[in-house]
Amino acid sequence: MSIPVITIDGPSGAGKGTVSRAVAKKLAWNYLDSGSIYRSLAISALDKQANLDDEQVMAQVATDMDLAFDCGDELTVLLEGVDITHRLPTEETGSVASKVAAYPEVRAVLLQKQKDFRQLPGLVADGRDMGTVVFSDAEIKVFLTASAEERAKRRFKQLKEKGIDANIDKLTKEIQERDRRDIDRKAAPLVAADDAVYIDSSHLSIDEVINQVLALAEK
Ligand code: DC
Repeated sequence: MSIPVITIDGPSGAGKGTVSRAVAKKLAWNYLDSGSIYRSLAISALDKQANLDDEQVMAQVATDMDLAFDCGDELTVLLEGVDITHRLPTEETGSVASKVAAYPEVRAVLLQKQKDFRQLPGLVADGRDMGTVVFSDAEIKVFLTASAEERAKRRFKQLKEKGIDANIDKLTKEIQERDRRDIDRKAAPLVAADDAVYIDSSHLSIDEVINQVLALAEK
């Protein structure tokens, strides 16, 4: 019997992380934040001053990356044994992650690293292509979205809380630019799986979204 998976895909800032973590906790399942893998690759590439425009170089950086995840109450990520968690949420990291995530060779290298998270008793996986590519056989697929303005507002609040400086207009533009790049890329573009349940969280509270996903899981 295959290990059950719930996939939650959608654009940046739709609340996937918060919802997925809460659902995983409630079900006592494992959790995969696949964006953090692409963000870790971005950090590794920046630290190595590797050529971000070279697909093969980026695939090599992805292959060499020694990543460890501690998915406790808060996600902790170690790159080559060094805690990089605080560097994951910055806009620079996100924007470089989105760029290198467009390379098919990079995605191929990172595929198995993501599949390895499928462990008993089950997995909640969030990202862009969890339901379409990585776990295309998942039992439950959700596509979670919200308007770009609403997502920028949420991101602004999140960054402020973390003490990171931000500008809401700039954030909205960056989010729209990142959406475009994630949607337009040829390799595993951001798109809802045919069998995904579509949830627009623009006018929903996080708890309402969590309850909708849990109701799907119970069914
Ligand atoms: O979810 P996030 O904002 O942390 O993701 C950062 C970038 O990583 C995002 O712009 C695109 C890429 N990504 C991806 O291509 N596929 C995934 N499954 C997750 C993230």
